[in-house]
Amino acid sequence: MEPDRTVQLRATGGSHSVTADRSWNTWAYGDGVPGPELRVAEGDVLRATVTNDLQEETTVHWHGVPVRNAMDGVPGLTQPPIDPGSSFEYTFRAEPAGTYFYHSHVGLQLDRGLYGPLIIEESDPHVEYDREFVLVLDDFLPGEPRLPEGFGGGMGGSGGMGGSGGMMGDTRPPYEGLLVNGHLPSDPPEFTVEESERVRLRFINASSATVFQVGVAGHDLSVSHADGRPVEPVSAGSFVFGAGERYDAIAEVAEPGSWEIRASAVDGNEPPARAVLRAGDGDSSPTALQSFGSRLRYSDLRALSPVEGVDGRPDRTFDLTLSAGGGGSYSWAIGGQTYPDADPLRIAEGDHVRVRMANRSPVLHPMHLHGHFFQVGDAVKDTVLVPGHMGEVTFDFVADNPGEWLFHCHNLYHLHAGMARVFEYR
Ligand code: C2O
Ligand code: CU
Repeated sequence: MEPDRTVQLRATGGSHSVTADRSWNTWAYGDGVPGPELRVAEGDVLRATVTNDLQEETTVHWHGVPVRNAMDGVPGLTQPPIDPGSSFEYTFRAEPAGTYFYHSHVGLQLDRGLYGPLIIEESDPHVEYDREFVLVLDDFLPGEPRLPEGFGGGMGGSGGMGGSGGMMGDTRPPYEGLLVNGHLPSDPPEFTVEESERVRLRFINASSATVFQVGVAGHDLSVSHADGRPVEPVSAGSFVFGAGERYDAIAEVAEPGSWEIRASAVDGNEPPARAVLRAGDGDSSPTALQSFGSRLRYSDLRALSPVEGVDGRPDRTFDLTLSAGGGGSYSWAIGGQTYPDADPLRIAEGDHVRVRMANRSPVLHPMHLHGHFFQVGDAVKDTVLVPGHMGEVTFDFVADNPGEWLFHCHNLYHLHAGMARVFEYR
């Protein structure tokens, strides 16, 4: 494939400012967190040469884009990891259009800051807007990520990490705050528009372990895309999304002023991430969001192009529990098995595959499938949040992209503790 666009990404250590007077020694692509925005037209062939300047192995995964298997960036499954000092070329056709991101798929590197936005522009958007901004949300961990220890109890509550943060508190590292585009809330990024413009906000949850609730003071959001896929515009006061999910929403800025864009952790106590939407001049301090408005539900979403071939009876159904692994060490399981010591989930090209997940743990799990979009109700997504305490979610996909594809929890600490399986084409 001859590339239409070539980019260089360098995974490297460095110091980045998170407020006017505070910086952070971490790892990043190039010289900032998030990494550079990659923006291409739908259908373009993108070639990204990734150079590893770290002291350890790395890879890059193009989250949500149904690339060829060999370009998917899963170490030990789709490619050997990139050694320190070497590089790797990823080449793939950028389609379909949508809001995506790229990130390291090795260990806990994502929580260091190895992520950046990937925008594939549609030639003819189904919604009108005057300008757009990308907001990448993250949880701020200034030190070295470490796996929690000793939570094998399953239902939380007693012992291990289960006690402190209530029922949701099992696995979040001690985050110091939450970030929009690499900024702590004391130094929020500002997005400037003209009065009476419609602005498209592309929200990406690139955090490692945070479920965010997002709202904009003084504005309802018209949600236009879920995980990059177009939906019938639906109005909501706020939305909740887990690690790996994306929403695009239009806000109509009717009058001059400035308003807070707020993203709070639903299961943490850090100060909320903030940005400011500003129209017209004046340096008034932004109107704060008083409380989150009505929350978008998955059942509100109607995809404009549903997944084809998932009506009727599935060729294969997998019933998978989501649970703590047990055994005294920190582990998480899908269908009672812990990656990499887990059986592949075997499918065949052309299959209509149904996955039924039942959550046997108290915590939320944002479950992500590589290489395919799936149908969940009337929505089309690649990552779906499964509620805690017996929450159940079913999705369907068509096996149309042969290879070995990871299916996992996008809470990085759960993934690292084994919460992954592989769909394997035979
Ligand atoms: Cu965004 Cu397997 O990852
Ligand atoms: Cu999880």
